[in-house]
Amino acid sequence: MKILGFMGSPRVNGLNAKLVKSALKGAESKGAETKRYDLIKCNIEYCRGCFKCVFENHDLPFGKCPIEDDVAGILEEYVRADGYIFSTPVYDVGITALLKTFLERKFALFFKDKEDTVTLPAPRTPAHFLKKASLFVTGNARDEYREVMGDPCFETIEIDFMLEQVDVADKFYVGGAHVMTKERLEEKKKEAFNIGVRLVEEIEKEREKK
Ligand SMILES: Cc1cc2nc3c(=O)[nH]c(=O)nc-3n(C[C@H](O)[C@H](O)[C@H](O)COP(=O)(O)O)c2cc1C
Repeated sequence: MKILGFMGSPRVNGLNAKLVKSALKGAESKGAETKRYDLIKCNIEYCRGCFKCVFENHDLPFGKCPIEDDVAGILEEYVRADGYIFSTPVYDVGITALLKTFLERKFALFFKDKEDTVTLPAPRTPAHFLKKASLFVTGNARDEYREVMGDPCFETIEIDFMLEQVDVADKFYVGGAHVMTKERLEEKKKEAFNIGVRLVEEIEKEREKK
C-alpha cells in the first residue's frame, strides 16, 4: 500500500508540513509505504491550456504534456499509489496557487475526444473508488469559520477526485493557525496521525468488499 502526501504550503516547516508528516506516520504505522511531496520544492510549471495531454495518446495512463518539468515523474507515482493526503493553507479564501498549479497539471490523468463538446473528461485509469484521499486545510480564521474558509478549498480538491473516482475519507480543517498553542498543535498532530491510520484502514476495508 502506498500513500502520497502533497503539501501545498510554501512553508516547509509550517503547520501543513507538520500535519502531513503526522498523517503519513499514521499511515506507516499501518504498514503503508509513504512519500511526501513539498510542492514548493518541485518544478511544476503552469498549465498552458493546449489540451494535448487530454486529446492525445488515450491508451497511456496519463497524457503527454509538452512541458518538461517534474510533473510526469509525480504522475507516474500518482497512478500507482493507493491513497493520497492533500494539504493546503487557505490563501484568499481558496487553496494556494502552488497546489492549484499542480491540480491543473493533473488534467493529464483524463482523456476526451477533441470533437466531444458535451461530456466531462473521463479518467484514463478509473479508480472505482478503491483509492481514497484525505484533505487538510489550515487557516488563520478559527474553527467556526470552517464553512467559509475550508469548504471552498475542499471543493476545489474534491472535484478532481470525483472525476478520478477516488473517495474522500476525511476533510480536516484546522483554524487559528497563528494562535496555535503547543498543546493544541500536539492535539491536531494526533488527529492528523489518526486520519493517516484511518485512510489505510478505509482503503483495506473497501478492497475486502470487492
Ligand atoms: C497570502 C495569504 C492569504 C491568506 N488568506 C487567508 C484566508 O483567506 N483565510 C484564512 O483563514 N487565513 C488566511 N491566511 C493565513 C494562512 O492560512 C495561514 O498562514 C496558514 O494556514 C498557515 O499554515 P502553514 O504554516 O502551513 O503555511 C492567508 C495567508 C497568506 C500568506
